[in-house]
Amino acid sequence: MNSSNRLGSGLMLQLLMLTALGITSSQGLSEEYLKDIKADQVAEQASGSYNYDQQGNDWEGTCQDGQQQSPVSLTSSAAIVTAIPRIYFYNYDQNLESPLILTNNGNTANMVLPPTQNGQRAYINGGLLPGTFEAQSVHFHWGSASSKGSEHTINSERYDVEMHIVHKNIRYQTVSEASAYADGLAVLGVMFRAVNRIFSLHSGLIRIFNQLPQIVEYESSTEVTGRLTVQQLLGNIKTGEFYSYNGSLTTPDCAESVTWTVFKDVVDLPERQIMKLWELKDSRSQPLTNNYRTLQDINDRPVYYTAQ
Ligand SMILES: *[C@@H]1O[C@H](CO)[C@@H](O)[C@H](O)[C@H]1NC(C)=O
Ligand SMILES: [Zn+2]
Repeated sequence: MNSSNRLGSGLMLQLLMLTALGITSSQGLSEEYLKDIKADQVAEQASGSYNYDQQGNDWEGTCQDGQQQSPVSLTSSAAIVTAIPRIYFYNYDQNLESPLILTNNGNTANMVLPPTQNGQRAYINGGLLPGTFEAQSVHFHWGSASSKGSEHTINSERYDVEMHIVHKNIRYQTVSEASAYADGLAVLGVMFRAVNRIFSLHSGLIRIFNQLPQIVEYESSTEVTGRLTVQQLLGNIKTGEFYSYNGSLTTPDCAESVTWTVFKDVVDLPERQIMKLWELKDSRSQPLTNNYRTLQDINDRPVYYTAQ
């Protein structure tokens, strides 16, 4: 974090100052949420600077030599089709604390998820998840005006946008700690399709997308106001149909700590909403577009698919 002229948003500056000073609440942000935002910033900085100029082919370390990397091509023909318990969602229908903070971190639009208004976390278990996992943050991968940008492909189809809801195993204290363990993280992947329609049913998602013009600049943040539940992020997809496999973070350091659950059902969003993603800028003030990593070798890993 350098030169204050980059900090387009006074809010981000204030957050940085607050956390640097160890002051722990302002603007109605709870102590816990501030702590999580700070931890997320530290983790983001620890991953170093990277870009999508080569769709990740130039990233080093585990990104280069790992054998359980993500994303991968998901196909119903290559998957082991079997009965898997459904994913159970807890507190997904509870309003999150507000305000929510949406940030352009140079690689994506990221929102750290606070506890719900009942003081608990939204969490999941079931599926092939090796434990219980709390929702920590949500971010997006997208293309450009001329390309689609989901990370996984499903039956060879790349979708316009892929949303990731990052969860950490409750066995671990932080996302950073959890990323050192094979059972550390669970990411839910949800595909979005741009549709030629003005209105969307997904008011929660739209409230996030409506704030994107406020975070065009690198390291800017804004508030997402109003009530939001984690459930609303899922649109109205059928959550009983999904792929699951063991893989990695799709950004450096590409830690192999993720149980992936990628839903087959797709959220339709008006194209004019998705276009807002293409306007974001990276740390070089270049357009932040096509922020997806190239497909990785499956290397004999089983991919499971269930439809119920
Ligand atoms: C992930 O790896 C663990 C340990 O090898 C295995 O028990 C589990 O079944 C795998 N999960 C999936 C979804 O492949
Ligand atoms: Zn992601």
